[in-house]
Amino acid sequence: MEPVIGARDLEKQFAVRGFSGHVVPALRGVSLDVAPGEFVGLVGESGCGKSTLSRILIGVESATSGEVLHEGRPVETREEWASLRRDVQYVFQDPYGSLPPRMRIGDVLTDPLRIHGMRDRHERAARAIAMLQEVGMPASAMQRYPSAFSGGQRQRISIARALVLEPRVIICDEIVSGLDVSVQAQVLNLLLDLQASRGLGVLFISHDLRVIRYLCSRVCVMYLGEIVEEGAADELFADPQHPYTQGLLASSPDRAAPGQLAARVAGEPPSSSAALPACPFEPRCPRRGDVCAVEVPPEIRLGGHRALCHFPGAPATAQDARSPITDRA
Ligand SMILES: Nc1ncnc2c1ncn2[C@@H]1O[C@H](COP(=O)(O)OP(=O)(O)OP(=O)(O)O)[C@@H](O)[C@H]1O
Ligand SMILES: [Mg+2]
Repeated sequence: MEPVIGARDLEKQFAVRGFSGHVVPALRGVSLDVAPGEFVGLVGESGCGKSTLSRILIGVESATSGEVLHEGRPVETREEWASLRRDVQYVFQDPYGSLPPRMRIGDVLTDPLRIHGMRDRHERAARAIAMLQEVGMPASAMQRYPSAFSGGQRQRISIARALVLEPRVIICDEIVSGLDVSVQAQVLNLLLDLQASRGLGVLFISHDLRVIRYLCSRVCVMYLGEIVEEGAADELFADPQHPYTQGLLASSPDRAAPGQLAARVAGEPPSSSAALPACPFEPRCPRRGDVCAVEVPPEIRLGGHRALCHFPGAPATAQDARSPITDRA
C-alpha cells in the first residue's frame, strides 16, 4: 500500500547558541515511510534525532534539506501541509504535560473538530464520546479536567485527541515511557486494537526494544541522526547486521526494573559539534577497522533488510561483540 507519510534524505542542523558557525547535525539524510496499518518502530539513544524527525514529519519544524512526502508527493504549499496535518497526528511523550490543565476533556476532544469545520455541536460531542469509548474511557470524562486522571488514562485521552480527526497515521513519541509496566501494556494493546480496527499506521518511537519488538512489523535503528539499520522486525531481531543494533539488543533490559527501560551500549556518543568520523559509530564500535574512520560505510542489503556498515553480520563470538578488534581492515 502507498505510504501515507514519508521522509526523503532529511537533514536538520541546529545552530548552537553563542557559537556562531557551530551546528548540531540532528538529522543526517533520513528516509523512512509509514503505510496504512503498518507499525514502524524507531529506536535509538537519547539525542539521536527521533523527536526532531517526528516534528519535521508533522511540519512543526522545518528541515534544512530533503523532503516530506504525503501520499507519495512532496509537501510544499500551506494547503499541502494542512492536508498532511489532518492525516498525521502526534501523541506526546508526557502524559502530565500534554493535556492543557484548564481545559475540560470535552473541549480538548471537540476543539480540533470545530477548528476543522465541524459546525454542529451535538455532532462534535457525539464524535468525542465515541472516541473516548473506543479508547476505553467513559463518556463522563467529557466534563472533567486532566488532573482527574492517572497517567495511563491521560495517555488514552491523548490518543483519543489524536484520533478525533480520523488520521491515517499517528506518531507516538515515547508515549509509554513514563508509565508503570502494567499500564504500559494496556496502552500498547489499545494501539494494537486501533491498528486492527482502523487500519491505522503508527510510527512508534521508543528507547525500549522490548516494546518495539512486541508491537512493530518494521524497525528503524537510529544513531546520531542516521538510520543505520532497517528491516522487518522478525529479520532484524533474529539477524541484526549493524554492531550498534547488536549492542542495543545485547543490552536490552530483559530483567530491568520498571522505569529503567533504556538499553545501553558501551561508550558515549561523541559530542555533536566534534567532527564525526566517516562512520559515526566508529569510536564505539567493537568491530571497527581502519577503513571505518575514513570511508563512509556502504549500504548492505539482505532480503528486506539494510544496514550501513563496513563489517556487517553476526559477531564471530559473544566475546567478539564486546572487545574491540582493530586489525580487520
Ligand atoms: N531546538 C533545538 N535547538 C538546538 N538543538 C536541538 C534542538 N532540538 C533538538 N536539538 C538537538 O538535536 C539532537 C536531536 O534531538 P532530539 O530531541 O530529536 O533527540 P531524541 O532522539 O528525540 O532524544 P530523546 O530520546 O532524549 O527524546 C540533540 O543533539 C539535541 O540536543
Ligand atoms: Mg525525543
